[in-house]
Amino acid sequence: MKFSSSVYALALAVAVTAQYRYESPPFNLYLLSDSDYNGSTLSACHTGAAMESLCVSNGSSVSKPTPIAAGVFHFNTTGPDRSLLSEGYITYLLRGSNFNLSQPLGLSINPISNVALPMFQPGEEFSQTFWFDENGLLDIQGYIDDRVDGDPVAVGPTYRWHACTTYYGGYVYQTLAWVLGEGPPQNPTCVKVDVKRVFV
Ligand SMILES: *[C@@H]1O[C@H](CO)[C@@H](O)[C@H](O)[C@H]1NC(C)=O
Ligand SMILES: *[C@@H]1O[C@H](CO)[C@@H](O)[C@H](O)[C@H]1NC(C)=O
Ligand SMILES: *[C@@H]1O[C@H](CO)[C@@H](O)[C@H](O)[C@H]1NC(C)=O
Ligand SMILES: *[C@@H]1O[C@H](CO)[C@@H](O)[C@H](O)[C@H]1NC(C)=O
Repeated sequence: MKFSSSVYALALAVAVTAQYRYESPPFNLYLLSDSDYNGSTLSACHTGAAMESLCVSNGSSVSKPTPIAAGVFHFNTTGPDRSLLSEGYITYLLRGSNFNLSQPLGLSINPISNVALPMFQPGEEFSQTFWFDENGLLDIQGYIDDRVDGDPVAVGPTYRWHACTTYYGGYVYQTLAWVLGEGPPQNPTCVKVDVKRVFV
C-alpha cells in the first residue's frame, strides 16, 4: 500500500491548516422534495445545552407542535478568495442572554443506525465541512471512496439528505438527516429531500 496520493496530501493539508473565518451573507435553508416537505424551511431546534438540530420550521411534533421562524445561517470559508462553491462550515449564531456563540454544523452519528443527525455544537471538533453546488444545493464531498479497492479516489458532490422524525436527547422533531453510505435510510419516516440555500 502506498500513501503518496495527492488525495491524502490534500486531506491532511485541509485538516491541519483550515480556518473557517470568512463569513457569507445570511441565508435560509429550504427543502426541495416530491413530498409535503417541499418548500419548507429549516430552523435550529434546541436538543440540549448549546446543541440544536436542524428541524423543519413548520413541522409538527411532540417537542415542537407549532411552526417557528425560518433559521438564519452563514457559510464560513477559509479565505476571501474562496467562492461560495468551496468547502466551508454551516454556522448558526446561538444567542444567550449575555453571549453570542457561532456554532458549526456537524453530524451526530448513532453507531447502530445509518441515519446521522446534523447538529450545531460549540467547538470545531464536531464540525463537518459542506459544499454548495452551482444550484445552491447543499452537498458533502469525500477524499476517500471506500467502495474502491486500491489507491484512494475522491468522491464528488453527494446528496444524501432526508427529512425524518428523529429522537435526540429526549426531543422529538422532524429534522434534516444524512444517510451514511448508500442507503436506504433504516428510519422508516425518512423522506428524500434536497437542501437549497436562499440568501435573505
Ligand atoms: C464564522 O466566521 C465569523 C467571522 O469571522 C466568526 O466570528 C465565527 O466565529 C465563525 N464561526 C465558526 C463556527 O467558525
Ligand atoms: C417544489 O417547490 C418548487 C418551488 O416552489 C416547485 O418549483 C416544484 O415544482 C415543487 N416540486 C414538487 C414536486 O411539487
Ligand atoms: C410547510 O410549508 C410548506 C411551504 O410553505 C408547505 O408546502 C407545506 O405544506 C407546509 N407543511 C405543513 C405541515 O404545514
Ligand atoms: C448578539 O448578536 C446580535 C446581532 O447579531 C446583537 O444584536 C447582540 O447585541 C449580540 N449580543 C451580544 C451579547 O453580543
